[in-house]
Amino acid sequence: MDSNLLLKEFYQRFGNENVKPELYFAPGRVNLIGEHTDYNGGYVLPCAISYGTYLLIRRINEPVVRFATTNFEFKAEIPLTQLSIKQPDKWINYPLAVMDQFAKLNVKIEGMEMLYSGNIPNGAGLSSSASIEMATAVAISHLYNVDISMVDMAKLSRRAENEFVGMNCGIMDMFAIGMGKKNGALFLNCRTYEYNVVSANVAGYTLVIMNTNKRRGLTDSKYNERVAECEAALKALSTDRPLVDLSDLSLAEFESLQHLITDEVVRKRAYHVISENARVLAAVDALKENRIPEFGRLMNASHDSLRDNYEVTGFELDTIVNEARNINGVIGARMTGAGFGGCAIALVKSEKVNEFCNTVGTNYEEKTGLKPDFYIAEIGDGARKL
Ligand code: GLA
Repeated sequence: MDSNLLLKEFYQRFGNENVKPELYFAPGRVNLIGEHTDYNGGYVLPCAISYGTYLLIRRINEPVVRFATTNFEFKAEIPLTQLSIKQPDKWINYPLAVMDQFAKLNVKIEGMEMLYSGNIPNGAGLSSSASIEMATAVAISHLYNVDISMVDMAKLSRRAENEFVGMNCGIMDMFAIGMGKKNGALFLNCRTYEYNVVSANVAGYTLVIMNTNKRRGLTDSKYNERVAECEAALKALSTDRPLVDLSDLSLAEFESLQHLITDEVVRKRAYHVISENARVLAAVDALKENRIPEFGRLMNASHDSLRDNYEVTGFELDTIVNEARNINGVIGARMTGAGFGGCAIALVKSEKVNEFCNTVGTNYEEKTGLKPDFYIAEIGDGARKL
């Protein structure tokens, strides 16, 4: 990203070169393992990536907030009195949602001009929306001198997404984006927010992100449906003893209680969550002890459970993951993020990466008619002022 060019674009849109805006950045994220566990109080293992959202922002002496983006033709001006109203242009609801949360903390939002510029592929499951939210949260906290920790900003952005946008997501994306560490994966307990950083450098292997380029249609409604199914499972299982989250149960406990869930689909959803939670713990141990084949096996098992029990993969994700697994030198492959399209990841022997991208690319395109993209994940630091 060229910050001078971005500044030029800012002045082109908003004028007044006498007042320089400030520049903020929030990354996207990729999750290594632990999918659909976060809103069940479970474990996750995400990393922040070097792609993300840049935000140039300054305060102005007018009763409006102006938004623009370099990603497409767009400009909006929202009067301060209307900041809490949901807009038909989806993306500005992310910053508006965050402002709404700051307002609820009694921060008086005043006039601003904001230019966003993102290089996370849209709808790819790499958290472009949480990245916009966290860039906004960090910028506003600085601009208005709000004393708030990064973890609290992640929680605030989650509330913003749940309450304003209506997506009942967990904390994983915002937490990874806020607390990300260069070359580290965050092993996070989503119930207690305790976390530690595990080295994500696997000598001799490269983490390849595979974008199916299948846009994640209807994600929010299908996602919220899964959240509701987990709530139903929790309710059924709680008839035995009170439970706070599905993650309270070990696999063995679940086996002995699962008869309490009468709906077979709901039972499968719960099984996924509880088995995935166990896989995260095993995967962290494997990573720390450099047992890479075991880590790969767990990645594969995670995808298979998301396909068979949680049913959030679909033809494109399954095809790209199968093609990846067929390549010699691939240690494991799985979807990442919410699912229903978007990205998958594979751990590939570094010397095989070119061959991997060519072969998987050709075979995937042949089977789906879609051209995939491949990115080499650079694992970077969390949200910050630049
Ligand atoms: C989306 C949500 C996260 C998490 C993942 C699935 O990315 O925003 O909170 O639930 O899906 O693991």
